[in-house]
Amino acid sequence: MSLLELDDVSVTYRIAAGELPAVRGVSLSLDAGAALGVAGESGSGKSTLAMALLRLLPKDARVGGRILLDGEDVLAMKWGRLRAVRWAAASIVFQGAQHGLNPVRRIGDQIAEPLLVHGLAKPDAARARVAELLEQVGLPAWRARSYPHELSGGQRQRVMIAMALACSPRLIIADEPTTALDVMVQAQVLTLIKELVAEHGISLIMISHDLSVLADVCDQLAVMYAGRVVEHGPSGEVFHEARHPYSRALAAAFPTVGDPVSRMAPKGLGGDPPDPMQLPGGCAFHPRCPVALDECASLDVALWPSGPGRTAACVHVKAAESVGVAGAEEEGS
Ligand SMILES: Nc1ncnc2c1ncn2[C@@H]1O[C@H](COP(=O)(O)OP(=O)(O)OP(=O)(O)O)[C@@H](O)[C@H]1O
Ligand code: SF4
Ligand SMILES: [Mg+2]
Repeated sequence: MSLLELDDVSVTYRIAAGELPAVRGVSLSLDAGAALGVAGESGSGKSTLAMALLRLLPKDARVGGRILLDGEDVLAMKWGRLRAVRWAAASIVFQGAQHGLNPVRRIGDQIAEPLLVHGLAKPDAARARVAELLEQVGLPAWRARSYPHELSGGQRQRVMIAMALACSPRLIIADEPTTALDVMVQAQVLTLIKELVAEHGISLIMISHDLSVLADVCDQLAVMYAGRVVEHGPSGEVFHEARHPYSRALAAAFPTVGDPVSRMAPKGLGGDPPDPMQLPGGCAFHPRCPVALDECASLDVALWPSGPGRTAACVHVKAAESVGVAGAEEEGS
């Protein structure tokens, strides 16, 4: 059975201007011990989806569909159960989270907090566990007595990972865990995450706008555009032979893991993502799509099979599959 199962998940924010559809009909699953990457430009709904998984969204967000964690319906959980699940079963490393550390508390106390709050350890055992966790993330045990401002950005991000690991969760959700870091430190932290999840058999959902980072760390990739998954499959295949024109543009924008040049000047992606309050009809990507057909402006797009274990929401993929052709790269170009 899958550790996590998302079935037709949608999230709508109620804002002053009306209803903003941030996530639209996302269905995905994650096996125990597997790593799923979620890619997409700013505003594509990645963080909203991540927060929906643990019901961390603000009150003005309406969530639809089903989210099953180990077979249990997250959206139906009572508050007490939900609190136990957060940290103990699944934990999240937020975007820019290293800035969220409490500046006036020693980091050892902050790492120990979930262990003490959830009654998983007495103070002495929690101290020993903090030393062990710091060692796992490559920091010396004496750092427990440091305050956040005494650490570098990369070290603070390691502390956030130690916090996420504290209660031995089965799932870690890492939302842009390295974006704020410089390239060398980014590579070190990514390697650390990769090693830790493999060593401890933890499942991982990692979010980034950088497809190359995800392809390096994850087994599976889901590419989001305007709140929808537009392509899904094994990460190497999606990165190197994307079937959807948007995934191809994203892969071209970030060709090499952590490459500073491609980070500064992403190429291949013209125009801006759509305003979620005014989504284009048909395929939401059609105003930017280099291989759009006339019908794309009104077409009802769905995720069609695009190879073994792969799907993509593009009319060219649908056409290629219906005539039994595996690839769709040349279609329409
Ligand atoms: N609390 C909120 N209230 C209203 N709208 C929100 C809220 N949070 C996010 N949104 C909107 O939902 C959409 C998706 O935002 P989200 O933060 O999930 O995107 P993202 O893919 O994580 O982007 P980024 O790469 O910039 O982090 C955006 O249009 C955003 O403006
Ligand atoms: S459905 Fe049409 S607009 Fe959308 S990605 Fe495919 S070709 Fe482009
Ligand atoms: Mg985000």
